Amino acid sequence: MIHSSLNPRTRKVVIPAAGMGTRFLPATKAMPKEMLPVVDEPAIQYVVAEAKAAGLDDVLMITGRGKRALEDHFDRVPALERSLELEGDFGKLQKIQDATNLGNIHFIRQIDALGLGHAVLCAQQHVGREPFAVLLGDDLIAEQEKLLERMIDVQQEKGGSVIALMKVPRANVSAYGVAAVSSVDGGPEDVVRVTDLVEKPEADQAPSNLAVIGRYVLDPTVFDILERTGPGRGNEIQLTDALQVLAEGEGEGFGVHAVVFSGKRYDTGDKLSYLKAVIELSSAREDLGPALRPWLKDFAAAL
Ligand code: G1P
Repeated sequence: MIHSSLNPRTRKVVIPAAGMGTRFLPATKAMPKEMLPVVDEPAIQYVVAEAKAAGLDDVLMITGRGKRALEDHFDRVPALERSLELEGDFGKLQKIQDATNLGNIHFIRQIDALGLGHAVLCAQQHVGREPFAVLLGDDLIAEQEKLLERMIDVQQEKGGSVIALMKVPRANVSAYGVAAVSSVDGGPEDVVRVTDLVEKPEADQAPSNLAVIGRYVLDPTVFDILERTGPGRGNEIQLTDALQVLAEGEGEGFGVHAVVFSGKRYDTGDKLSYLKAVIELSSAREDLGPALRPWLKDFAAAL
């Protein structure tokens, strides 16, 4: 794809991680939900690694009370590193260093839990006036899918903001932001223009079955809109509502395109999908898959 020299390329990523994780209580009573292990890495590490793979190594995490483990996880533990080195356990040493080599990670607290839109607004000062990515930790996108890179390319070419959409069964739309779209003349088939967005509509009122998934590349104009966005669905300040204003408006910083994604997405946001994600990802691993797959077959056959 040819990049226009007019639009700056996205460099920064914002990861909202202030949510309470009530769906996983009691596991999340004293531990952030982002630290739940997906096989042997905390869920949040997959997301930071995805950002790094897309060339984004300026990360801002929006945290809150009880989230200190996130800061510790991305920090060095010199004593542990030294003892692994002395023991010659370089495999483990590499694994713990992986988490600290993922870029510049900054943290800021969202003092009031006023919703996803408000969490993104907390990033305003750090981001400044340049396009930025937002990655939601409940969605894991396989690195090889290169969704984020593609979204960054589309944003640089088209300007405005870019979201990711995925077809879901109609019955499930009420768990997502849902978009109405129109095709883009002469564009690739998976890039569409967003004409309408609704946060978590009832199935019979949804404009389509295209669900917003947790990857965004946003024009900083979104901050101006969020500053005057009142509470929406669930009495929270919704990012979707600000994006709807950007989709409807015209001029510098407005306009929303979407990449329609049909690759592999793992949802770790609720118990059942979390379990499925752990099973799928472990059975695909070289170290665990060969032993796990036959066991899974026997287990399933005996059900
Ligand atoms: C958030 C967004 C929603 C989006 C979803 C994707 O909802 O508000 O528009 O579809 O993430 O995972 P949440 O799942 O945080 O309730």
